[in-house]
Amino acid sequence: SEESTTADDNTLIMATNAFFEPYEYYEGDEVVGIDAEVGKAIADKLGMEFKISDIDFDSIIPAIQSGKASMGMAGMTVTPEREENVSFTRSYATGIQVVIVPEDSTIASIDDLEGKKIGVQQGTTGDIYCSDSPEKGGYGEDAVTRYNKGSDAVMALLSGKVDCVVIDNEPAKAFVAANEGLKILDTEYANEDYAIAIAKDNTELLEKVDKALAELIEDGTVQKIVDKYITS
Ligand code: ARG
Repeated sequence: SEESTTADDNTLIMATNAFFEPYEYYEGDEVVGIDAEVGKAIADKLGMEFKISDIDFDSIIPAIQSGKASMGMAGMTVTPEREENVSFTRSYATGIQVVIVPEDSTIASIDDLEGKKIGVQQGTTGDIYCSDSPEKGGYGEDAVTRYNKGSDAVMALLSGKVDCVVIDNEPAKAFVAANEGLKILDTEYANEDYAIAIAKDNTELLEKVDKALAELIEDGTVQKIVDKYITS
C-alpha cells in the first residue's frame, strides 16, 4: 500500500494535499490534476515508480524532511521561511491569493476584511498572511479560522461560520464553480510562485527533478497539462 512505501531510489513519492483542484483532487479513488500529472511525467523521465501520498498540507514539509516523501508538490508557494527547511526546484506555475465571499457579502475588497472571520487552509500562505499582525499587513491570529482542507474552509463559508476564505485563485475558481452563491473578489492579495520541495540534504534528487522539470517545461509538456485543467 502507499502507507508502507518509503521513498527510495526507485520510487518517487509525491506528498500533497489533494483537495486543491485543479492542482490535485480526487476523481473517484484517484488523485488527478496538474501536479499529479507533472509529477508522474517527472518520475517517468527519471525511470522511477510514482506514488502520491495525500496528507495534511502542513505535514508535507516534515514528510520531506523525514524522508517519508521524496518531494512535495502541492501548488506549494516558494517562501523564504520554507526555503530554510527545504530546497525548491524552479517554478512551474504561479498563483494569486484571492478572497471568496458569499454573493451577497458586504465585503467588497480586502480593505473590508478587518473585523471579519477569515477561513484559511492550515499552514498555507493564505493562513500565514492573514494571521500576521495588522502592522505586518495581516488581520491577527483571532481573525483566522484554520481548516485542514481548503474544501473544509469553503464548507464553513457556505454554512456562515466564516465571512470569507483566502485561498489560491485556481482552487478558488473551482470551489466557486462547484458551489452556488459564492464569488471571488476582484482585488488580489499576493502573487506567488509554485515549485517542488525536496529535502535540503538530497541535492542529487533536487538536480534530477529540476532538470526533468526544465525539460518538461521546455518541450511544452507542462503547458499541455496546464491547458488540460485550466481553460482561460
Ligand atoms: N499556495 C499555497 C501555499 O503554498 C496553498 C497551497 C495549498 N495546496 C494544497 N494542495 N492544498 O501555501
